Amino acid sequence: MVLEEIETSLIMWFSYALIPCLLVDGVAALPAPQNLSVQSTNMKHVLTWSPVVVPEEIIHYSVEYQGEYESLYMSHIWIPSSWCSPTQGPECDITDDITATVPYSLRVRATLDSLTSAWSTLKHPFNRNSTVLTPPGMEITKDGFHLIIKLEDLGPQFEFFVAYWKREPGAKEHVKMVRRGGIPVHLETMEPGAAHCVKVRTFVKAIRRHSAFSQTECVKVQENNQFTPEANQLQKGRGRSLCGGRAVF
Ligand SMILES: *[C@@H]1O[C@H](CO)[C@@H](O)[C@H](O)[C@H]1NC(C)=O
Ligand SMILES: *[C@@H]1O[C@H](CO)[C@@H](O)[C@H](O)[C@H]1NC(C)=O
Repeated sequence: MVLEEIETSLIMWFSYALIPCLLVDGVAALPAPQNLSVQSTNMKHVLTWSPVVVPEEIIHYSVEYQGEYESLYMSHIWIPSSWCSPTQGPECDITDDITATVPYSLRVRATLDSLTSAWSTLKHPFNRNSTVLTPPGMEITKDGFHLIIKLEDLGPQFEFFVAYWKREPGAKEHVKMVRRGGIPVHLETMEPGAAHCVKVRTFVKAIRRHSAFSQTECVKVQENNQFTPEANQLQKGRGRSLCGGRAVF
């Protein structure tokens, strides 16, 4: 009985000892990740690939990149990606690695314990100037007669061209450049009764491209608009009133 148990554990031990050898023999059997591509929207860049599947095992991936300089002058040098050396999911946010508007080569490989796949390289180098720029989100609010806008915060690379006009025949369009999103900006003081319209698009200096314009949004203050106390204060403080001879309290 005891002998039998020892025998069994010996067999177990041998097979456990042998498994790694078989696997080491099978190094080439760990497939390289396939289908590399970069999704880039509003200067956020994500490298994705088809996952390597080994049942009941957790695969890790390492991502490396080469900027134009490394590609041209030091082709043997690959730089590990900031966030994916290693990583577990089949994607990697490479935004922090792509710091110039030049072509970047990217490659990824899979690892499982001490096993490593071959590298897979992105077919066409990625240039961030191909990023998709979407029209920015915009919130319009009224504070008394003041037209306030808040633009989507897309990070420090984004500037905004805000176009605004009074909706009436022959009205002139004004343009204001806003250097960052996420904070309320006073656009203009509105004329009572008139609709004031706004549309906005982004501009990214680093790639010299702009997005399409957002949808136009219009707001109107009624003739009988009542100031909130703060707005009234602000209006007085500026020492001017658009309300002409109208009685405002
Ligand atoms: C790569 O993508 C194609 C098309 O989306 C798909 O048919 C194929 O299975 C993918 N390859 C791998 C290894 O997942
Ligand atoms: C990006 O830059 C490359 C190299 O300067 C240029 O050939 C390509 O047309 C640019 N693409 C876009 C979308 O601007």
